[in-house]
Amino acid sequence: MSSNGDYSFHDFKPGREDMAAEVLRGITGVQKYISPKFFYDEKGSVLFEQITTLPEYYLTRTEMALFDAKLPEISSFLPADLCVIEYGSGSSLKIRKLLQGLTPQAYVPVDISDEHLQQNARLLHADFSDLNVYPVCADFTHQFQLPEAVQPLQKFAFFPGSSIGNFEPEAARGFLINVREAVEYGGFLLIGVDRKKARQVLEAAYDDASGITAAFNLNVLSHLNTELNSNFDLNGFEHVASYDADAGCICMFLRSLVDQDVQIAGEKVSFSAGEHIHTENSYKYHPQEFIDLAASAGFEEVARYTDVDDQFGLYLLRGR
Ligand code: AVJ
Repeated sequence: MSSNGDYSFHDFKPGREDMAAEVLRGITGVQKYISPKFFYDEKGSVLFEQITTLPEYYLTRTEMALFDAKLPEISSFLPADLCVIEYGSGSSLKIRKLLQGLTPQAYVPVDISDEHLQQNARLLHADFSDLNVYPVCADFTHQFQLPEAVQPLQKFAFFPGSSIGNFEPEAARGFLINVREAVEYGGFLLIGVDRKKARQVLEAAYDDASGITAAFNLNVLSHLNTELNSNFDLNGFEHVASYDADAGCICMFLRSLVDQDVQIAGEKVSFSAGEHIHTENSYKYHPQEFIDLAASAGFEEVARYTDVDDQFGLYLLRGR
């Protein structure tokens, strides 16, 4: 199908940072650390997609059901001349639901991975015939310039999936301040945020019975093996997910099963049996706690939604 919409690509891709240097800095610290951004090689992205369909991982299906139930009401709060800005062009299922429900004039997906970004953007451009699509390749944890063409439109930011949980709370506030600046006064943010809940429910969601999350966590080592010529033995580590109720955070680790040395980008790194590599934090927020955080970043609440089991929060906020 041919499209009447505009299409242009906007490139603010940061200079190729040195993955080796970043990994070495983290893995040689007192608390050994590998950033969760390194989960998502091709295999890792497939494993994450599988996670979203696991019975224990309630987040994705609960958020999707909230979209189905609430997009008509959300749409009634919005003006007609909308520009949707999606932070991280991740799940095409979610954005398709949103574009169908809100019928914006323009769509700006923002992502650091330019291939994935342009591939998804072109598919959406083909499928939504009147939609103007302006993909922006950028690191959205920093400020970036919106395409000129969307300046007259009302901005509507979209950040689903509880991805905000990967930020430390102070960094989450910093991110929300940037979003507030991008949407301007009166602009909107629709954000999905996982809620605090019983330890058993959370730990099962991040350590499922079929072992997909364990494979996802361990896969970061095979990603490093490929990219950095390291020689991690995936059988030498095990997946650990534990809920820190005081911090409201699921913390994922890889625990070394034995004393071992690993070569990483030409350096020898030693692990003792029982030592943990920290790989991910996933913060959870009580609704009022999240609303307060958003308020401190310049957003007011328009509406808050949750499922019958109080598992997941969906928030419509407006810049003030
Ligand atoms: C993509 C960061 C939202 O924290 O739930 C899922 C990643 N890690 N299972 C999350 C993840 C383990 C996910 N986020």
